[in-house]
Amino acid sequence: MPPKDIVGRAVDGLEAMANTLSISTSPTNTFHSPGSYFPSSMGRNTRPTKSARQLKPFNTEDIKILLLENVNETALEIFRKQGYQVEFHKSSLPEDQLIQKIKDVHVIGIRSKTKLTERVLSEAKNLLVIGCFCIGTNQVDLEYAAKHGMAVFNSPFSNSRSVAELVIGEIISLARQLTDRSMELHQGRWNKVSAKCWEIRGKTLGIVGYGHIGAQLSVLAESMGMAVRYYDVVPIMALGTARQVPTLDELLQQSDFVTLHVPELPETRNMIGEKQLNQMKKGSYLINASRGSVVVIPDLINAMKSGRIAGAALDVYPNEPAANGDFFTNDLNTWAEDLRSLKNIILTPHIGGSTEEAQSAIGVEVGEAIVRYANEGVTIGAVNMPECTLRSIDFEQTNHIRVIFIHHNKPGVLRQVNSILADHNVEKQISDSRGDVAYMMADISDVQEEERKEINDGLESLGACILTRILF
Ligand SMILES: NC(=O)c1ccc[n+]([C@@H]2O[C@H](COP(=O)([O-])OP(=O)(O)OC[C@H]3O[C@@H](n4cnc5c(N)ncnc54)[C@H](O)[C@@H]3O)[C@@H](O)[C@H]2O)c1
Repeated sequence: MPPKDIVGRAVDGLEAMANTLSISTSPTNTFHSPGSYFPSSMGRNTRPTKSARQLKPFNTEDIKILLLENVNETALEIFRKQGYQVEFHKSSLPEDQLIQKIKDVHVIGIRSKTKLTERVLSEAKNLLVIGCFCIGTNQVDLEYAAKHGMAVFNSPFSNSRSVAELVIGEIISLARQLTDRSMELHQGRWNKVSAKCWEIRGKTLGIVGYGHIGAQLSVLAESMGMAVRYYDVVPIMALGTARQVPTLDELLQQSDFVTLHVPELPETRNMIGEKQLNQMKKGSYLINASRGSVVVIPDLINAMKSGRIAGAALDVYPNEPAANGDFFTNDLNTWAEDLRSLKNIILTPHIGGSTEEAQSAIGVEVGEAIVRYANEGVTIGAVNMPECTLRSIDFEQTNHIRVIFIHHNKPGVLRQVNSILADHNVEKQISDSRGDVAYMMADISDVQEEERKEINDGLESLGACILTRILF
């Protein structure tokens, strides 16, 4: 068997991943309610079956997609397979060019640099859906988009595995003082030591936040012989022999390594400060790859100087530079140079989720969500609209149509909608609201071509209408 290089292996893995991504990237999605990618309303029977009919509300060649910022190849493949017209740019566009291009596209795919402000979006007359091929969505005016019928999708969990693997690497590196030894030898100094260097087998890993990343990490750590304890604000079923503990204090007191995987919330701000560090075992280790606001870094510096904390790994900081360069100084964070001078501390520039695999997975996850939305009207995973789905229409149900009605969330609208649909056989229907915007889906049987127009015009004439789409 000839040896394969890392790229070859990554591509093999990708194919396997692509098959599973339409469900989730995490083993925990089924029992996570907040932040879960698929809500419980999306039961098994809502996933497309072999006999599901692909809804084609339009000639797919008519769908125009603008992809900016070198969105991953995996997404391009998905769109090309659909027959969509794709215009691809490696970088973002200056605002005036963006405004020109966005005028007639149905879909736009961006990463974090393109700002989709109200000014830009107000020029987008045909835009149905925005794909953020990244984690964050604060570069998009989400409220304006929702109020104008533009769904926004992102990919919050495609890089969970990458973060978990980085943390595993850091646990071993801290236990063996690996980065210090390496740095010394780079400087020509041979320093062979075993004092205070440990195996991780048999040690206790304390995970704060047992979500997508925490749960992945739990499985990996246990397979290396660690005992896993976790603390979370919701009761979560343990994977393997991990055990949930009732309080953060208990977790801190029991763990040799504490790793943080909580979201940025008012309650998690400064979650680990002097008091918590004093509760940790003497000689234990702290890892933070969640958000920079979770740890009080000056308190960590003191705890490391006093020897209570034997090592730390930080991937995230309260202030992070917007570009690569020599910016990690006291001008950015007042304690930066103090932090840099410590022994056995791994400092990385927010790279936890930065892998080729995560980028590919993001392309697949957002690409598939866009196709599902464009073709079927399914909003599962949308960040600015209610999440709705319906069981697919079967292949033999040729005269069935799906009505999508995005509307202002006002009293009495559904009564008006139902009076328009009343003479038809509505086989299934769902509606939900999020703030001022509501979303309704209805599958109707035996609708002739001329009746489609009637339904469409009737719904469009309602004062509350934001957008009507008839899929067939
Ligand atoms: N370093 C990176 O590059 C990188 C990459 C991806 C995600 N992240 C960050 O990692 C963190 C975790 O991401 P995730 O995808 O696992 O999130 P997730 O939403 O899947 O899980 C978060 C978990 O934290 C729990 N939680 C919330 N508040 C808590 C509290 N006060 N105490 C204890 N538990 C609490 C939630 O119940 C949930 O189980 C987030 O902050 C995310 O922004 C960092």
